[in-house]
Amino acid sequence: MSTGPESLGERIVAARAAALAESAAASTAEALEAWRVRWLGRRGTVAALFAALPEAAAAERRELGQRLNALKNELQGLYDAAASAAAPAVAAAAVDVTLPGRRRWVGRPHVLSQVLDEMLAIFTGLGFAVAMGPEVELEAYNFDFLNFPPNHPARDLQDTFYVNDRVLLRTQTSPMQVRIMRSQPPPVRVVVPGRVYRNEQIDATHAAEFHQVEGLYVDQRVSMVDLKATIAHFTRLLFGTDTAIRFKPHYFPFTEPSVDVDMTCFACGGKGCKLCGNAGWIEIMGAGMVHPNVFRAAGYDPEQVTGFAFGMGVDRIAMLRHGIDDLRLLLENDVRFLAQF
Ligand code: PHE
Repeated sequence: MSTGPESLGERIVAARAAALAESAAASTAEALEAWRVRWLGRRGTVAALFAALPEAAAAERRELGQRLNALKNELQGLYDAAASAAAPAVAAAAVDVTLPGRRRWVGRPHVLSQVLDEMLAIFTGLGFAVAMGPEVELEAYNFDFLNFPPNHPARDLQDTFYVNDRVLLRTQTSPMQVRIMRSQPPPVRVVVPGRVYRNEQIDATHAAEFHQVEGLYVDQRVSMVDLKATIAHFTRLLFGTDTAIRFKPHYFPFTEPSVDVDMTCFACGGKGCKLCGNAGWIEIMGAGMVHPNVFRAAGYDPEQVTGFAFGMGVDRIAMLRHGIDDLRLLLENDVRFLAQF
């Protein structure tokens, strides 16, 4: 009946016994997989037994083949049962669906950017272009061309950060007035947003860096009426249609006449409250008619053109708009604060 020291029939019986014994010990997913490879894999024991089938006596082949198929099916069944029993445990180890998800933060523009965008949109709607200029500026543009006398206190080291004796961090966006006029002929309608620097003692209402929007309008026969109408339109759109403005005489070297612009307090409508310090009015910008000396420094003929300019603090307007009581919050980038806007 048999040909070798161990017949194929005997090898099938031995293989089955060994495979069953080993399967009981395969308790981990890795051990189970190793068991499958060893017994059912392409180079596993069952495959080797099938390969030996042609060597068996012709009369026994059919029966041995059936027994081998039965063994293969039995072992495959064992494997499938063990694998599906382990599956929930494997899945649970990979992903615990009861854990809270990982939060994805959604970003947004900084509150200052939001307010600045609103401000610029109002002016672009009036036909103003938007321009930007250098924060590291020549003293000539920041002071001399703007008609500051040589000994003006704003030039003092205590007020201005100097890079060297000719170069400084701009203290205002006004130097862009002359840069723009030097780069193009009139008419000019432009707003200039940007960061400015002053050597300040920092507290709730003072920072060493803050933001301004400069405005410049130059053409023939531009008057204070144009200035007032432009600013009134701006404050109504930004703070509400009930907002009124008033001009108070002021002094800037680069405008004549110069004014401080107040608007009615949008919190109390002018009656007086905490926000406006009971005044009913809030100061929002400096402005005036462009000084002839500034036109001259820019290469414009003050006999031919007139113009108005204004400058306002973006940080201050953002604080007013949103009731923010400490300027430092705008620079600290605490997400808990910024996420409110
Ligand atoms: N540059 C002035 C400031 O920083 C503001 C201003 C701009 C005033 C333009 C008049 C005209 O205070």
